[in-house]
Amino acid sequence: MAGKSEKEIIGNFEVSKAGLVTRREILTMGAVAAAGALVTPALAAAGAASAPAPAGELYVAKDFSGLQGKLDGLSASQIEQHIKLYKGYIGKSNELRSKLKDVDLSTANATYSAVREMLVEQSFAVNGVIYHEFYFGNLGGKGGDPSGELKSALEERWGSIAKFNDFLKAAGKSVRGWVVIGFNTRGGFIDSFGLDSHNIGSPANFVPLLVLDVYEHAYMVDYGIDRAKYLDAFLKNIDWDVVGKRFSIARKHPMGAEATI
Ligand SMILES: [Fe+2]
Repeated sequence: MAGKSEKEIIGNFEVSKAGLVTRREILTMGAVAAAGALVTPALAAAGAASAPAPAGELYVAKDFSGLQGKLDGLSASQIEQHIKLYKGYIGKSNELRSKLKDVDLSTANATYSAVREMLVEQSFAVNGVIYHEFYFGNLGGKGGDPSGELKSALEERWGSIAKFNDFLKAAGKSVRGWVVIGFNTRGGFIDSFGLDSHNIGSPANFVPLLVLDVYEHAYMVDYGIDRAKYLDAFLKNIDWDVVGKRFSIARKHPMGAEATI
């Protein structure tokens, strides 16, 4: 990001100060994933660029190691273990994409078949990649309150930031996988969804803005089964600048059916 006075790198996008996408690299996971991996100050300091892709592998792990030891209430060990899990989804996403090229199509069947299992589990693996990138990408801040249009949008939906925080914590106690606060491109408003699994409960045309991982692996190292303490820690580390930039990108570059491209 250094030296880019007029532009900044957001995920796989080069974005002008006016918020316009000026260059797209060849994307492996689309605009949603690109917006998810915004480079936070903590990550930028650690050099958050992705490593070169091994030959033939389209999914490449982003470097979130800059979060280790930098978060308030989430230990380096906790984040290290979580990053290992994320990299596992990278590997399986590549494996499934590769194997689907040569899968036996003659046995296709909706009860059980190799092609069915690979397609379904690919959605689990790929969403495992994408949601984790959104999650790690919105950590590394100082929490507190958002600002600007994002703050206004959250207040319009929930009444106040305090009430939004109450909602987020309650949602975090109520689902088994992910809480996703995002931009609904169908209606042009902020909305919320809860997922019990990476690939169950994830609506189309919904761009994640703030992603909260509530799987036990996200907090077990630090808090055992005390999810409430983890949720308090999560709130203290939200990078609202990143979330605000995602909101800005989602509104300017909707990927929904109503987008005019
Ligand atoms: Fe996770």
